[in-house]
Amino acid sequence: MSKVNEVVQRSTQGEIAVVTIDSPPVNALGRAVRDGVHSAVQQAQQDTAVKAIVLICAGKTFIAGADIRELGKPPEGTNLIEVEKVLEAGPKPVVAAIHGTALGGGLEIAMSCHYRVAASSARFGLPEVKLGLLPGATGTQRLPRIVGVAKALDMMLSGEPIGAQEARELGLLDELTKGSSDGDLLQQAVAFAKQLVAAPRPLRKTRDLEDKLTAAKANPELFAKVRKSIAKKTRGFPAPEKIVQCVEAALRMPFDEACQFERRGFQELMASLESKAQRYYFFAEREAAKVPDIAQDTPQRKLEKVGIIGAGTMGGGIAMNFLNTGMSVVIVETKQEALDRGVSVIRKNYERTASKGKLTAADVDKRMGLLTPTLQLEQLHDCDLVIEAVFENMGIKKEVFGKLDRICKPGAILASNTSYLDLNEIASITQRPADVIGLHFFSPANVMKLLEIVRGKATGKDVIATSMALGKRIGKISVLVGVCRGFVGNRILAARGEQARQLVQEGIMPWQVDRVLEDFGMPMGPFAMIDLAGMDIGWDAKSSRGETVLRDKLCELGRRGQKTSAGFYNYDPQTRERSIDADVEALVRQYAKKAGFTAREVSDQEILERCLYPMVNEGAKILEEGIAQRASDIDVVWVNGYGWPVYRGGPMFWADNVGLQKIVDSLVRYQQEPAALLRKLASEGKTFTR
Ligand code: 3HC
Ligand code: NAI
Repeated sequence: MSKVNEVVQRSTQGEIAVVTIDSPPVNALGRAVRDGVHSAVQQAQQDTAVKAIVLICAGKTFIAGADIRELGKPPEGTNLIEVEKVLEAGPKPVVAAIHGTALGGGLEIAMSCHYRVAASSARFGLPEVKLGLLPGATGTQRLPRIVGVAKALDMMLSGEPIGAQEARELGLLDELTKGSSDGDLLQQAVAFAKQLVAAPRPLRKTRDLEDKLTAAKANPELFAKVRKSIAKKTRGFPAPEKIVQCVEAALRMPFDEACQFERRGFQELMASLESKAQRYYFFAEREAAKVPDIAQDTPQRKLEKVGIIGAGTMGGGIAMNFLNTGMSVVIVETKQEALDRGVSVIRKNYERTASKGKLTAADVDKRMGLLTPTLQLEQLHDCDLVIEAVFENMGIKKEVFGKLDRICKPGAILASNTSYLDLNEIASITQRPADVIGLHFFSPANVMKLLEIVRGKATGKDVIATSMALGKRIGKISVLVGVCRGFVGNRILAARGEQARQLVQEGIMPWQVDRVLEDFGMPMGPFAMIDLAGMDIGWDAKSSRGETVLRDKLCELGRRGQKTSAGFYNYDPQTRERSIDADVEALVRQYAKKAGFTAREVSDQEILERCLYPMVNEGAKILEEGIAQRASDIDVVWVNGYGWPVYRGGPMFWADNVGLQKIVDSLVRYQQEPAALLRKLASEGKTFTR
């Protein structure tokens, strides 16, 4: 084995040269990898003793793509296209040996090799779209030639990887390994290469494959169909349309010309704010998993059996997360009827998934078999973790935690799913506040990715480490937050809600506010969201102040939101499509007049500034108070919990791009007090996230 450079080695097995990339953690295509592979392959091409080449990676995976940290910086060293050329254009067959994930530039490299052998657990994808990019090193030209236009579009537009079996069926792979270890892969790839040497055949170059393109030419309506099918989901994202254009180019232009076209598109996207935001977000999500004051090797508690209290909206969804990963769950209610309802909702959810073919009937039974419904809190005595999801009421929560303190075994983690309440107060009722933590799931809890993990003042470090690991185990994106009303997400939501209400109080129509925020990229404006959640949350007929408060008035009128087909909007009971209601419009004007506001036209820009800048301001206060560990964590919360468009990074990244001084000035103009941190950063010309 000889070192080509610090990350690439070359060795030989008889007539076969083996080029090994060893660049942890994921063998990304940084400069050293590109340079190293280029020279190793060139050396092998020139070595007359070598008849074929195998390209393989050490560590846990094949190349996971370009080095994302290098993207957008001035290019240095050998570029990726040159590496591909040396692989494809040389006279000797090159076999890629793939394990782990071949992603982005990694798959582009693999497709530039003449043949591909892979471990049966390997996965293959072009996920560039998730970074606001297109596959920019010939991927948009190679993948359609190998798997066909429709499948290539599907893979590149979703960014989702496929498994080895499917890849084999699609023609992306020539062989799957029989054994399961890395050694098997190398052996089989070398054996494959030896066969090529023994029985030479013309090298198969992806660039020359035309069959699957010809087939697509007979189906010209394909592109219009694809555009239509992705329109809604990709609104605001520039990359998907450019990917479609590159595949169209594959049908229209010769390979090299289409690659130039692809390259220009890639450069344009790379320079876009959307891609910068998505690349920032990629690292933000990974950073969120890190807790500086908790050592990586902090011992974790064993978690196998979970208890959940409350089988309502949240309890049921939370339970599904654990059932899905094979953990057993005891779910407790106060009344048989509530328990039965909760369990049947869980079953129905699974059955719906099964009816779509995503679960088998046996899977449904297995999951339901792991669930023990009960009315006896005492049954939680041997649970390793108990999550309380009862009504949002401090008295009830304290009563529950007092009982848990008596019932649960020593070492059990006691968690609350509270949305707003003071976790320290809840913990104080127990004799073991170090075991108490907040696990704030979002609704629907079996679907939403975000998990706010709330660290109380006494929460033990091992309890935090265990909870962060648990989040990963159940497929959540966890963000550690501190105790305050509403934690990170709901606290910022409240700041926006207050401004939105104020705008309507001044006579601006709720649908104008919603439209502005939806055009910005939010999935739903604040008033549509209230209609969805229920206008009457927190409303009480006895204390209703309908005379002066519009929302109370709407409740009094029976307009409780989507569930009554009327709230701020009217809703079609069948389609749930919303429409404007003239009576609500008249009420808005009437209440504004009563409050002393004269009708005026308000620009969309004013609405945007007045709704979003206070969110940034609240984020700054959250940072000042140490409630979030870092600005990017706030962005991760808002992207995953509230649908902030990822192509705008998150509120804090977005604020940095707007300019912090501009935000300070605007807050002052609208009589809001800018947070000290915001003022400080603005005056020093600094940002939150860089
Ligand atoms: N570049 C730089 N760093 C990367 C990276 C990449 N492509 N992929 C992963 N990393 C880093 C992560 O930041 C993380 O670093 P940290 O430990 O310091 O936080 C470390 O590698 C491990 O990553 P994960 O925590 O994500 O590890 P997992 O095992 O959960 O997942 C993975 C591994 C599936 C490879 C996942 O990291 C991933 O999806 N990576 C991104 C793949 C990608 O987007 N590739 C396309 C890049 S763009 C491209 O190729 C352009 C080309 O077309 C020209
Ligand atoms: P819910 O009203 O749908 O369910 C609460 C359930 O708890 C009811 O079924 C009730 O019978 C049961 N319950 C009440 N007291 C109990 C007790 N002592 N023992 C056992 N069961 C008891 O309420 P939801 O929406 O599920 O909320 C639960 C908690 O989750 C609240 O703290 C809420 O703030 C929080 N939360 C709610 C979200 C939502 O969108 N609904 C989102 C995130 C958190």
